[in-house]
Amino acid sequence: MTSTKLILFFLLLFLITLNLSASSTGGDHERFIYSGFTGANLTMDGSAKIIPTGLLALTKDIYQTKSHAIDPDPIRISQSNGTVRSFSVSFVFGILSRSSGSRSSHGFAFFIAPTKNFSSALPSQYMGLLNIANNGNLSNHLFAIEFDTVRNLELSDINDNHVGIDINSLNSEQSYYAGFYDDKSGTFTNLSLTNGGPIQVWVEYDRNTTQTNVTIAPLGIAKPMRPLVSVTHDLSTVFTNQSYLGFSSATGATTSHHYILGWSFGMNSPAPFIDSTKLPKLPGPLDSGPRTRSILLILPPIGSILLVSIAVMVVVLLARRNLRCKEVREDWEVEYGPRRFAYQDLYRATRGFKNKNLVGIGGFGKVYKGVLPISKLQVAVKRVSYDSKQGIKEFIAEVVSIGNLQHRNIVQLFGYCRCKGELLLVYDYMENGSLDKHLYNFEGQPTLDWAQRFKIIKDIASGLLYLHEDWDKVVIHRDVKASNVLIDKETNARLGDFGLSRLCDHGSNLHTTNVVGTIGYLAPELIHTGKATTLSDVFGFGIFLLEVACGQKPIKINSEGSHLVLADWVVENWHKGSFLDTMDTRLQGNYNIDEACIVLKLGLLCSHPFPNARPNMRQVLQYLDGNVKLPELHRAHFSYEIN
Ligand SMILES: Nc1ncnc2c1ncn2[C@@H]1O[C@H](COP(=O)(O)OP(=O)(O)OP(=O)(O)O)[C@@H](O)[C@H]1O
Ligand SMILES: *[C@@H]1O[C@H](CO)[C@@H](O)[C@H](O)[C@H]1NC(C)=O
Ligand SMILES: *[C@@H]1O[C@H](CO)[C@@H](O)[C@H](O)[C@H]1NC(C)=O
Ligand SMILES: *[C@@H]1O[C@H](CO)[C@@H](O)[C@H](O)[C@H]1NC(C)=O
Ligand SMILES: *[C@@H]1O[C@H](CO)[C@@H](O)[C@H](O)[C@H]1NC(C)=O
Ligand SMILES: *[C@@H]1O[C@H](CO)[C@@H](O)[C@H](O)[C@H]1NC(C)=O
Ligand SMILES: *[C@@H]1O[C@H](CO)[C@@H](O)[C@H](O)[C@H]1NC(C)=O
Ligand SMILES: *[C@@H]1O[C@H](CO)[C@@H](O)[C@H](O)[C@H]1NC(C)=O
Ligand SMILES: *[C@@H]1O[C@H](CO)[C@@H](O)[C@H](O)[C@H]1NC(C)=O
Repeated sequence: MTSTKLILFFLLLFLITLNLSASSTGGDHERFIYSGFTGANLTMDGSAKIIPTGLLALTKDIYQTKSHAIDPDPIRISQSNGTVRSFSVSFVFGILSRSSGSRSSHGFAFFIAPTKNFSSALPSQYMGLLNIANNGNLSNHLFAIEFDTVRNLELSDINDNHVGIDINSLNSEQSYYAGFYDDKSGTFTNLSLTNGGPIQVWVEYDRNTTQTNVTIAPLGIAKPMRPLVSVTHDLSTVFTNQSYLGFSSATGATTSHHYILGWSFGMNSPAPFIDSTKLPKLPGPLDSGPRTRSILLILPPIGSILLVSIAVMVVVLLARRNLRCKEVREDWEVEYGPRRFAYQDLYRATRGFKNKNLVGIGGFGKVYKGVLPISKLQVAVKRVSYDSKQGIKEFIAEVVSIGNLQHRNIVQLFGYCRCKGELLLVYDYMENGSLDKHLYNFEGQPTLDWAQRFKIIKDIASGLLYLHEDWDKVVIHRDVKASNVLIDKETNARLGDFGLSRLCDHGSNLHTTNVVGTIGYLAPELIHTGKATTLSDVFGFGIFLLEVACGQKPIKINSEGSHLVLADWVVENWHKGSFLDTMDTRLQGNYNIDEACIVLKLGLLCSHPFPNARPNMRQVLQYLDGNVKLPELHRAHFSYEIN
């Protein structure tokens, strides 16, 4: 062996060791650094993977998913006597979204948790970390820094671009708009989490002061002195003797790519310095046409025969599509881009609107089940025909606005597609169908027991309260009824069918429009004035309560052909002292008498002929939760003489 060869050999050996140390861990795993993740041993699930350039890619273009990447070896941050040691974490991330800036979902989080198993966690606003039932439970032993790109009011989010410190709950202990303070001038600069990366993060915990500081800055800028968010909370009460460190990300009704470029950790010491020049690069901005681009790349080497046959196929497809739908797109729709679906996708999703995919027919059109081509998201597509051009602009603006509503008791509206004379509304698909099917045992469904019914009632009350009071705008549903209540996979009840609701700003006068709704659920004043208000929704909700408790339609036609109004019948029985005889006989007497009385009386109070006698939805929830006693009611207060 010549000396040059020897030198080369050692150089090679040196390089290999250097490369290994770049991603390996200290002796007892108290310090580590990843400058890129090539060859890293991480525990991953969902769509998380390490791509060849060394980027750790969490979620991608799949709706309603969660992904995790976790350092496989647990870390003993908590000592044997329970005190947590000081630690420091740093990482660099980038979020890329197809739509420019505004719509991205749902964000990601750095976490320290006692487990690597997040199978029971939910995507979207739960970030793949927690679920509805365990959010806020102290036994989660979860510490997380969230980078949240969707505003969710249930979780008290401040905006759709914030950083928060979460302890056992996704309702952050402390959060602030993403940004940083300049060391010299002290001025605050906003940073956009989406399409604004790469961004570096520092998380520091000092066990003497029990303070956690989180600081962020664009990659390349030194750590600003003033932290963005800071919390004093002794983490000894949070961590168990075994802690896993990792990242979780989630998508919801829209998607984003979440990338981690580098990551370091130090126990009782500052996190090792991340050299920005060693990090992999973020991919360029995502444009909406990766598929067309790859086709263009493939095309040249393939023969012209293929080209011709593709052209023929496209022409045939277009012709076929045109036969069924003349898609309409107008200039003002451009800003609704992300909410606008291509007819072709919906056509494919529902297998050409085949009867096999038909799940129901409503007053306004047919509803089809479908699976969207790329995302595999299950959707319900409602075809509504309309004839006037007038009002369509306002209508679509509403659809888009309603699409931004997110609540666990509301059926999410993903978007729309517009054809000549026809509108297609795309909703989240509800596995368990509509409530009326369960209530009236269609298709041999077992009847719902009382506990299920009571939960459904409370669910719908929260959904309606959210529409009325907790969102930026007052939303009047206008068509609260059993067939518009849908049951999801987790048997939560959700209020659906916003096809009819109209929006109005808080405080401004309520619009007057034609009366819409369903006979039997329409408030009397609505028939006279045509003015829908939150109180006319409360009326519909009252009838819904009676329907669920009694298991009967609001208006029945008996064998002699005369009409029987459910509410009148309940009042009559109350007067006769046989109030509970009105309860659904399918329950066979198995119900909680106190709850049943609350529901029946509240049903009557909400469907009171005089609007001012009705409670608002906040009060309704208090009555249902038993926090506030129902006022004493007298039969004399109820008169249903108004038609
Ligand atoms: N998001 C959904 N997921 C699953 N099934 C749905 C969904 N939306 C509607 N359906 C089904 O389609 C049926 C028809 O729904 P639709 O809302 O059009 O009619 P409706 O509520 O009966 O009447 P109306 O149009 O007067 O409100 C429902 O009863 C339900 O079974
Ligand atoms: C990855 O880490 C786990 C846990 O420490 C270990 O069991 C596994 O063997 C490692 N895999 C590789 C390829 O190093
Ligand atoms: C726990 O142990 C560490 C050292 O092992 C010590 O510094 C610390 O003071 C102890 N804390 C308590 C509450 O005893
Ligand atoms: C994760 O936890 C769930 C229950 O929450 C359990 O069913 C599943 O087997 C666990 N998975 C692993 C890999 O331990
Ligand atoms: C918190 O979780 C534990 C274990 O999962 C459970 O036993 C307990 O009831 C939960 N507490 C609350 C308030 O939900
Ligand atoms: C930063 O963003 C927040 C919320 O979007 C906004 O209220 C604030 O005015 C912005 N600050 C600056 C300096 O632009
Ligand atoms: C957090 O920031 C404050 C203000 O700059 C500083 O005084 C404190 O030492 C910091 N704490 C940690 C744990 O870094
Ligand atoms: C915490 O306090 C101990 C002594 O009480 C001191 O030695 C140590 O430097 C302090 N740590 C920090 C991060 O201030
Ligand atoms: C952690 O504590 C639990 C009980 O609290 C014990 O069963 C387990 O062995 C401990 N694990 C380690 C690594 O010390």
